[in-house]
Amino acid sequence: MYRYDEFDHAMVKDRVEQFRGQIARRMAGDLTEEQFRPLRLQNGLYLQLHAYMLRVAIPYGQLNAVQMRKLAHIARTYDKGYGHFTTRQNIQYNWPKLSQVADILDELASVEMHAIQTSGNCIRNTTADQYAGVTADEIEDPRIYAEIIRQWSTFHPEFTFLPRKFKIAVSGAVGADRAAVRFHDIGLFIVKNDAGEVGFEVWVGGGLGRTPMIGKKIRGFVAKADLLAYLEAVLRVYNMLGRRDNMYKARVKILVHETGTEEFTRLVEKEFEDTQGGALDLPAEEIDRIAAYFQPPAYEALSDDPPALTARRFEDKDFNNWVRVNVARHKAAGYAIANISLKPVGVPPGDVTADQMDAVADIAETFSLGGIRVTHEQNLVLPDVRQDQLYDLWLALREQGLADANLDHIGDIICCPGLDYCSLANARSIPIAERISQRFADLERQYDIGELRLKISGCINACGHHHVGHIGILGVDRKDQEYYQITLGGAPGEDAAIGTKVGAAFSAAEIVDAVETVVNTYLAIRQPKERFIDTFRRVGDAPFKESLYDKAA
Ligand code: HEM
Ligand code: SF4
Repeated sequence: MYRYDEFDHAMVKDRVEQFRGQIARRMAGDLTEEQFRPLRLQNGLYLQLHAYMLRVAIPYGQLNAVQMRKLAHIARTYDKGYGHFTTRQNIQYNWPKLSQVADILDELASVEMHAIQTSGNCIRNTTADQYAGVTADEIEDPRIYAEIIRQWSTFHPEFTFLPRKFKIAVSGAVGADRAAVRFHDIGLFIVKNDAGEVGFEVWVGGGLGRTPMIGKKIRGFVAKADLLAYLEAVLRVYNMLGRRDNMYKARVKILVHETGTEEFTRLVEKEFEDTQGGALDLPAEEIDRIAAYFQPPAYEALSDDPPALTARRFEDKDFNNWVRVNVARHKAAGYAIANISLKPVGVPPGDVTADQMDAVADIAETFSLGGIRVTHEQNLVLPDVRQDQLYDLWLALREQGLADANLDHIGDIICCPGLDYCSLANARSIPIAERISQRFADLERQYDIGELRLKISGCINACGHHHVGHIGILGVDRKDQEYYQITLGGAPGEDAAIGTKVGAAFSAAEIVDAVETVVNTYLAIRQPKERFIDTFRRVGDAPFKESLYDKAA
């Protein structure tokens, strides 16, 4: 993984000390909360419903065991013993004391981590496919470019006060989008052109929130050397023309929509003509320098499906299910990518205790060459596991309550903090996720239902990605009561789609039954092997509407 050089270390340390001074002035009453706000937001510190919340970036979702232990230590020492993995490869602490935030940041700096640009109207943590570098279906490792973008965007003087926040995601996989690339302000797919050169396909203006939009493709191919110049051109057009008069219309998605994709593209291309070949030119040597940090480890010469694995799969049904559902193909023969679901029944999605984090760090060292990834689905990944050690890994995970075999099934819910923590919420989302996971706790039932992405947000800001859930749940306020709207047909990945509202909202008491009705309707009308989303695409929302509402009429 990328290692800080002396400048990185000095920069992050300086920042911690600056913020320490700002916190001291706030605590002494020399700064009002209003004056303090822009300062704390530049350091990832939010004010939630009950307390401050600190959001720490995990660049392109990659952690090593030492960093994970540090995250555990922070959770145990400065928070309530747990952390929350988010939908953009960050971890959040919900209960830090203001007086201790600088110490937390100091601890993070010691393991090359920080919270810079995890909030505010700047370029946020650049995310990437969690299988980067280990998946067989990849053109090139997206972490290399996410790191280059991170270095370019950190403290970029021109883009520190954009009209609104700005999120970039990169994927290098062919035919699989695990990073919701089309729902980012800029989404980059690594592609090959007809001449066999590797470059980037550029999508702009995707996003969720109150106006969900799928990004628009504005360039089929940007050469590697031009990557930063092209990004800079997009950001410049946005910075100049993005709306600052209305916060709800300030994201680049609105600018692209209002300007029109063609005109927006023309403006970017014009800006690009001026920047191309200048100081932002990305020389091959620089790419090679960064790529050296992401060289694959020395894999042993092994073969796929070793007899030890096959035998265990045959003998132990639970293990076999876990392998079938949570384990993905690795590019190196004899290795596997193992997903750790952070969605046990009845636990807030994405929450991990300090003890579990320590255990994952140990497990990663024993079984996965020390590497850990976090996913935008609020799960973890062990990227480099020997197939003949999968069984022992599974036993170790099971001991920690981390072996739930529900990846991409109805128990694998994405959920925002909702009214339990968030001052913007209309309704609670965590208890709804818990109740749904309890209702569908039976894994055999989940397997029968098959792939089903369920996502819950406590308000229209859509932090829980409900728009891209096969089933989405949105908390709404009806005369001061918590209600829940259902959307159907959304999808985050290569078949990106925004879900549509199916009808009137349900009360908290009704919503779990309503979800079950949707699922049962699907089970009744699906064709053999048809996934929920495919059934929905074939039949539309009419049968679901009918079973949800006609009965009650
Ligand atoms: C309680 C603290 C939080 C507050 C106050 C908050 C606030 C917001 C707001 C206002 C937006 C809409 C921004 C816009 O569209 O311009 C938003 C979007 C979003 N938030 Fe949060 N959020 C919080 C926590 C979280 C958490 C915990 C996660 C992840 C689990 C998250 C992930 C997101 C995502 C993915 C979006 C969608 C951005 C997009 O593509 O448009 N947020 N949030
Ligand atoms: S979706 Fe709404 S309720 Fe949920 S975290 Fe975001 S702002 Fe808060």
